[in-house]
Amino acid sequence: MTRRNQNIKFAVFLQADCNYHVAGWRLPGSYADAGMNLQRWIEFARIIERAKMDMMFIADTIGLPGADRTDIIGYNTRPDKFEPFTLLSALTAYTKNLGLVATAATTFNQPYAVARVLASLDHLSGGRAGWNMVTGGNYEDALNFSMEAHPSHAERYARAEEFADVVTGLWDTYADDAFIRDRASGVYFDASKMRILNHKGERFQVKGPLSVGRPIQGHPVIVQAGTSIPARKLSARHADAVFTAQSSLPDAKGFYADLKGRLGAFGRSPDHVKVMPGVVMYIGRTEAQAREKYELLQSLIPLPVAMDRLQRMLGGVDLSGHDLDGPMPDIGGNDARMSTPMNYVRLAQREGLTIRQVAMRSAAGKDHWTLIGSPTQIVDQLEHWFVEEGADGFNLLPPDVPGTLNDFAELIVPEMQRRGLYRQEYEGSTLRENLGLPRPIRR
Ligand SMILES: Cc1cc2nc3c(=O)[nH]c(=O)nc-3n(C[C@H](O)[C@H](O)[C@H](O)COP(=O)(O)O)c2cc1C
Repeated sequence: MTRRNQNIKFAVFLQADCNYHVAGWRLPGSYADAGMNLQRWIEFARIIERAKMDMMFIADTIGLPGADRTDIIGYNTRPDKFEPFTLLSALTAYTKNLGLVATAATTFNQPYAVARVLASLDHLSGGRAGWNMVTGGNYEDALNFSMEAHPSHAERYARAEEFADVVTGLWDTYADDAFIRDRASGVYFDASKMRILNHKGERFQVKGPLSVGRPIQGHPVIVQAGTSIPARKLSARHADAVFTAQSSLPDAKGFYADLKGRLGAFGRSPDHVKVMPGVVMYIGRTEAQAREKYELLQSLIPLPVAMDRLQRMLGGVDLSGHDLDGPMPDIGGNDARMSTPMNYVRLAQREGLTIRQVAMRSAAGKDHWTLIGSPTQIVDQLEHWFVEEGADGFNLLPPDVPGTLNDFAELIVPEMQRRGLYRQEYEGSTLRENLGLPRPIRR
């Protein structure tokens, strides 16, 4: 069944070694060295483009969480990675249609620098750039940016609102046809088609103009990856796509309806923000094969690593006083992570999981929706969420690479295409065109 001639959008989440499962890098056949290996990334980009996915997304945190835990930190793949925009710039040369999206946290950047990098990437890629505008949930990042502590959740989102205004304002510095480069008249660009921003706000003072012409997409695609109420408000005003962790269809539908309902207040159409929950897929030719892979990966997780990860995902909550085989305590949101702890508690309650089981689940796929099965079983589920308006598309979180990427291209894509749920070819050459989003008019 299709939905108003729309098809399912797909991003893929990659970071550092790119295996989303904490033990993915140990699986025979997976790559452990992708973090700093351009050839691996070129291979991923080619598979993803062959699968006709909308975008490759590179997540990023800057500080290394738990660097002082010398007993377990050596398991962590995260310090071994390229700076994402540098990497995406290299990948522009090896891709043609694929959207190239990366994180730049508003808490640890300046809007002028972000506007410039994204505008450059948009030109380099012929209109395929995107920015994951997160406020950043990682306490350790703050310590590398001359801050003594992570700013509060409320302050981070207030800063993000003003940050986004400045970035989009700078992207509108020039009209699309400002740069005429007319040798005969000596006019390089038409100064009447340049607007100086002169932003003077509470947190930023930015004069402009930007030192890059208007991006090919007008504005590079903006993704927001928060689920809390302040995050939804930010997304409703500025985002073109939203990444979110939802582990059940009722929760996903609630989030979807709430977010879409906020768009009218900003004169935006519900179709112009794509809601894309994360989905971890363990794909097998049969369900038994998929389960075998899942079990093998689970057997490779050291419990202290899983517990450490869970506590960090909960925003630094200490679970050491609790019985590991007892129920998950009812932890609310906190200043570091607002929506994530509540997601974990709902997941544990729904499935009756102990703390140990939640930790093992988190190591496999955090608080995201997890599918283990054959292509038919997996596509049945994707179709159900799509048709029921729990999602406009998904963010694939591959437990192992390149295994899951190849399985997605070879097994999941043809099954979605057969059902008329997925594109046969890219619709356009820019990321906006492929996502079915309008090009912003210069304000
Ligand atoms: C799919 C997805 C991708 C994310 N990527 C990043 C990232 O690259 N860097 C980062 O600091 N946080 C990232 N986050 C975490 C968010 O920044 C945020 O901390 C989290 O969604 C909780 O936000 P909330 O408490 O406002 O809902 C991501 C979250 C999701 C769901």
